[in-house]
Amino acid sequence: MPETTTDPQRAAAVLAAGGLVAMPTETVYGLAAAAENEQAVRRVFAVKGRPADHPLIVHLAAAEQVLDGWAEPFPTSAAALATSCWPGPITLLVPAGPRVGPWITGGRTTVGLRVPAHPLATRMLEAFGGGVAAPSANRFGRVSPTTAAHVLADLGDDVDLILDGGECPVGVESTIVDCTVEPAQLLRPGAITPEQVKAILGDVAGASGPGRAAGMLASHYAPRCTVTLFESRQEAHSHLERLRSAGGRAVWFDATGDLAGAARTLYTALRKADLDGALEFVAVLPPPEGLGYAIRDRLTKAAAPRP
Ligand code: TXA
Ligand code: MG
Repeated sequence: MPETTTDPQRAAAVLAAGGLVAMPTETVYGLAAAAENEQAVRRVFAVKGRPADHPLIVHLAAAEQVLDGWAEPFPTSAAALATSCWPGPITLLVPAGPRVGPWITGGRTTVGLRVPAHPLATRMLEAFGGGVAAPSANRFGRVSPTTAAHVLADLGDDVDLILDGGECPVGVESTIVDCTVEPAQLLRPGAITPEQVKAILGDVAGASGPGRAAGMLASHYAPRCTVTLFESRQEAHSHLERLRSAGGRAVWFDATGDLAGAARTLYTALRKADLDGALEFVAVLPPPEGLGYAIRDRLTKAAAPRP
């Protein structure tokens, strides 16, 4: 069993010693390593089972740090989003500065930067001082963890320390905006909504389309059971009734009401389907607006056929 703590100083010390820390953020738990420690970052890829060309996000304590060698330059679109949204659930792709090693970006010239809004993450990042590279703390292609228990179930002893910050309040991964192109392009919808990004930048590409960050596969965030999606609650319900009357075990997920609640509980529900040995996960999609975009995106990926 890995050590578990609520002490951000302890987590910073483990990072400084080259260890791997599962860190809470407002979105999902990250598998964190000191960004400038090549060996530690390579271990993150190995533990996740992630191909080396899928780059990691670098997390910073505060927006002022981007010019300490993490971004060069920091584009105006990124500055506008950082001012309005950081600390918060948005990752900005910008030209990589000299402190960003090729082990983080897979040799790309861009880097994803994020200042998370979680009190324990902030205190850990402040105590550590530098950049912290972290993907979501799940094995490659599986559902992201939103509690310390999820991390433990997925990674076990492959992580050195779990910084337990309770349940992640947002529950889905950060919004990703590519600020290296003009106009900026939305690559992954999240809790900073496409409407918000558009309002801040004026012009943004892909705000309603299926954007793609590097290594974003059509099938991702996937449980083992079948995921069936419906636009109509009534059709979903009839499908559920048919399944149950045929003796099939199913998990019901209605994402049409409380969007924030649906986002927060989505990954726990997908995990539950597998834990319960359910045959099917039956979900009603929310309308494509606001946080609904992110929920639709993750549900669609969970439902896509595995490669
Ligand atoms: O909310 C989040 O973003 C969480 C927490 C821990 O911060 N992190 C997260 O990381 O979801 P990850 O690695 O699971 O997803 C980041 C996505 C990946 O698809 C990665 O390939 C893409 O962002 N990405 C990162 N840096 C990139 C870059 N320089 N160019 C293109 N895509 C990039
Ligand atoms: Mg991930």
